[in-house]
Parts: sequence; C-alpha cells; structure tokens
Amino acid sequence: MDNNNNAVTDQFDSPEANPGKIAVIGGGNIGEALVAGLVKAGVDPNSIFVTNRRSERSAELAERYGVVTGSDNVEAVSGASLCFLCVKPAQVIDVIGEISETLTHHDEQTALVSMAAGVTLAAMESAVSAAGTPLVRVMPNTPMLVGKGVHVVACGRYVDDETRQRVLRLLAVTGKVVEIPEKLIDAATAVSGAGPAYFFLFTEALIDAGVALGLTRDVAEELAAATVWGSGEMLMGDDSAAALRYAVTSPGGSTFRGIRELEESGVRGAIFRATEAVAERSAGLGG
Ligand SMILES: NC(=O)c1ccc[n+]([C@@H]2O[C@H](COP(=O)([O-])OP(=O)(O)OC[C@H]3O[C@@H](n4cnc5c(N)ncnc54)[C@H](OP(=O)(O)O)[C@@H]3O)[C@@H](O)[C@H]2O)c1
Repeated sequence: MDNNNNAVTDQFDSPEANPGKIAVIGGGNIGEALVAGLVKAGVDPNSIFVTNRRSERSAELAERYGVVTGSDNVEAVSGASLCFLCVKPAQVIDVIGEISETLTHHDEQTALVSMAAGVTLAAMESAVSAAGTPLVRVMPNTPMLVGKGVHVVACGRYVDDETRQRVLRLLAVTGKVVEIPEKLIDAATAVSGAGPAYFFLFTEALIDAGVALGLTRDVAEELAAATVWGSGEMLMGDDSAAALRYAVTSPGGSTFRGIRELEESGVRGAIFRATEAVAERSAGLGG
C-alpha cells in the first residue's frame, strides 16, 4: 500500500464518505498531528473526540481545531467507529482496560488503532475484553502535522477488509501509508518513527557549521532548511539516494572531500548504531 496524501485531500466533504465518530485518546504531539491532518482533510471536527488529562491542553485543542475534547475516555469511545490510542506506550494497556467494557457493549464495532511504539498486537489482544475486536498497530511520525507523515501499518487478525480500508484511507490524509508485517515495526520505528529527529539534528549541525564558516545564523538556517526540503523532494522521485549523491559529487570535486570527511568520521556506522539502538529500545517500550 503506497498512498499519496494529495490524492485524498478533501475527500470527507461528502456525507457518505464521513468516517463517523472518531476517538483520539491522548492529544499530545502525535494525537494533535493526527487531528490536525484529519480536520484539514475535511473530517467534521464535531465527529472527533480528543481526550487528555490536563484541561488546559483540551481547551487548547478545542480552540485550535474545533474538535470535541474532554478527559473521559469512556465517553470518547462510546459510539466511535475508530479509536486512535495516542498515549505513551506504558499507558496503552491501562487505557484499553478502561474502555474495553464500553467497546463490548455499545452498538459500534470499534477498531482500536494504536500509535504506540513497542506495544504488540498480542498484548493489545490480551487486554481487550471482547474477542474479535479489530486491532491495528501504526508507527506514525510527526511530519503528519504538515500532511507529510509516514504511517507504517500492521493489521491484526480480526481486521476485515472494510475496516482496513477505512483505517488506511483516514491515515492517508496525513501522509504516506506503508503496510508491513508486525515483526518489522521496530525496524520501521528506527527509520521513519525516529527519522525526523535524525534530520533535525543533522540540519542543526549543518547550521552551526555554516555559522562557524562565517554565515549569519539566519542565512545558515535558511540555506540548511531549504536544502533539506529540496533534497527531500528529489528523494521522492524515481532516483535512488545513492544515484542522487553520485550526481552531486563530481570526481575530485569539493563535495567529494566533504563526503570523505563524513565517511572517515564514521557517519554511516553511527546511523547503523543509532537505528539499532532505537529498534531495541522501541521493542522494549511496551513493557
Ligand atoms: N512523538 C513522536 O515522534 C512519535 C513518533 C511515533 C510514535 N509515537 C508514539 O505516539 C504516542 C504518543 O507520543 P507523543 O509524543 O504524542 O506523547 P505526548 O506528547 O506525551 O502525548 C501523550 C498524551 O496522552 C495524554 N494522556 C496520558 N494519559 C492519558 C489517559 N489516561 N487518558 C487520556 N489521555 C492521556 C497526555 O495528556 P496530559 O498531558 O494531559 O497528561 C498527552 O497529551 C507514543 O505511544 C509514542 O510511542 C510518537
């Protein structure tokens, strides 16, 4: 599955396309990014119920997006066709325990979609009281805030095709959707879940390096950010990362000297080690 979000923007304007009530448990970074994307794509804000523990945060989200907010998770999931779990991994199982009875007894077949790292479908399955509850694991990333996220998705055994399509279609409005087997989710977390942080760090270092060479910080920031943006657009084309790099490193040229310095400093090895560390940590987060 490889969706481009541009193709689906505004698809929820028609009543028949409306996904019904959506609960978002945990309106933090990821919860907000999801809500922002859904509202921007035309999902009726009145059909989105977001919960937080802090009332200030709820008020902020209500004002920013016009969504319904509160702190009662049971009220949020009651009658919802989809429930996104956007709390920290350590809280997922407790939250499922809290809403489980409601999911069993209301008329809707609610699909539970967890955005949390490390919490397996098997662990979620043991926590729900109704056997057969459709469960989905998603590893998102924060660029979904600007409609350019990546969602890595693994569906559980009780997800039928209609539910799967509904979930994938909703996620696609905030970014690309890539389905993979669950056993690869920690690897994907190390690449795309944590990936934005690597690029932010790299950009930060590039800015400082530009300032060290005499650029003003404003100019260095503009140059670095625009370079990451343009390079990202090129990477979304047909050419591989390697081919694009070869094209900008002419034989014996100045860029080649820079690449050699990076290689000799162990940048490639650092990326292997960083991603291994993330995958390992992510696998352990579910407890
Ligand atoms: N951040 C990322 O880049 C990223 C990337 C991929 C996946 N994820 C996954 O996304 C999930 C959320 O991460 P995050 O960065 O968005 O965390 P976050 O900013 O700390 O947000 C968590 C939110 O959950 C709320 N919350 C906590 N307990 C709750 C409860 N019992 N009922 C309702 N709401 C509750 C918190 O509200 P209060 O503040 O009011 O307590 C907070 O708004 C995590 O499981 C993480 O693994 C994050």
